[in-house]
Amino acid sequence: MNDLDALVQSARELFARAATPADLENAKAQFLGKSGRMTELMKGMAALSVEEKKTRGAAINVAKQAIEAALNERRHELAEAELQRQLHAEALDVTLPGRQRGTGGLHPVSLTMERIEAIFGSMGFEVADGPEIESDWFNFTALNTPEDHPARSMHDTFYVEGGSEKAPNLLRTHTSPMQIRHAVQHVKRYKALAGAPADGLFSGDMPEIRVIAPGRTYRVDSDATHSPMFHQCEGLWIGENVSFKDLKFVFTDFCRTFFESDDLVLRFRPSFFPFTEPSAEIDIQFQTGPLAGRWLEVAGSGQVHPNVVRNMGLDPEKYIGFAFGMGPDRLTMLRYGVNDLRLFFDGDIRFLSQFR
Ligand code: PHE
Repeated sequence: MNDLDALVQSARELFARAATPADLENAKAQFLGKSGRMTELMKGMAALSVEEKKTRGAAINVAKQAIEAALNERRHELAEAELQRQLHAEALDVTLPGRQRGTGGLHPVSLTMERIEAIFGSMGFEVADGPEIESDWFNFTALNTPEDHPARSMHDTFYVEGGSEKAPNLLRTHTSPMQIRHAVQHVKRYKALAGAPADGLFSGDMPEIRVIAPGRTYRVDSDATHSPMFHQCEGLWIGENVSFKDLKFVFTDFCRTFFESDDLVLRFRPSFFPFTEPSAEIDIQFQTGPLAGRWLEVAGSGQVHPNVVRNMGLDPEKYIGFAFGMGPDRLTMLRYGVNDLRLFFDGDIRFLSQFR
């Protein structure tokens, strides 16, 4: 083997050992670079005669071409290997199941809210919404609740910074402030229509107030049946001759429709609320099913107190009515047989997806 054959052989070996394109380019420089072995051979020709130059030059050229061919071959090999590697890494398994689009669903308490709105809507009640950060006036004072009432203590109510007589300074503890907020708006409209003074008690004619107000409420309380955030739905019906009899009728109709149970029995148990007089807790009793025979409390209620009617801007000698406040969380637990309120607020998909 002459020196040129040996050189080509060693170039082939070095190129074969190059594992990456960068390795290969380094190897190439050793043979074909400016100070590579080929360039050195060319320089070495200077001392040769013209005849010798011809044969030696041709032989060097052949060797050079052989090295370039080996280099290109190895370049292709490396590129092909890289392509195969990429194809392998990005391989798609077309037999895998496709990505499913998750279908959402309403929260069980939202389902209850919608149900409540639909049933009361069918009885001619409109739906009102109001602020969760409420003022002391709407949450307590306007509702005839005395300064020293225990519900006003820090143990029961979440107070927030600031606050003046009419500025928001607490998280509403019930939806009852909506009685005042909604009635005041309603009365304002018909006072204006009748040309009655804006700040007097109104005794002119107006359509009845019939409204429910569902929403979030807050109390300092937390266990299996109490959550610091919970839901309530207020109901208010004010007119000229609206009595306790109407409350009984409306609420019985509602409960029987809500629970799809025609033999459901209601009990109005005497109670106390500052904003109603007389007041009653409403209990229900199923005649069949797992809860049959037990009295279950679902709402507070009563005839709206004359002081509250006044705070609505109405003359209590003319206008009278009833109010109730129920717990949609509890209604949801009863309807679906859920025994821990906290399940509703944990956000566990395994629980929630059962209501889809
Ligand atoms: N607001 C009362 C409560 O939270 C419920 C209620 C509403 C009672 C309306 C009477 C009338 O307990």
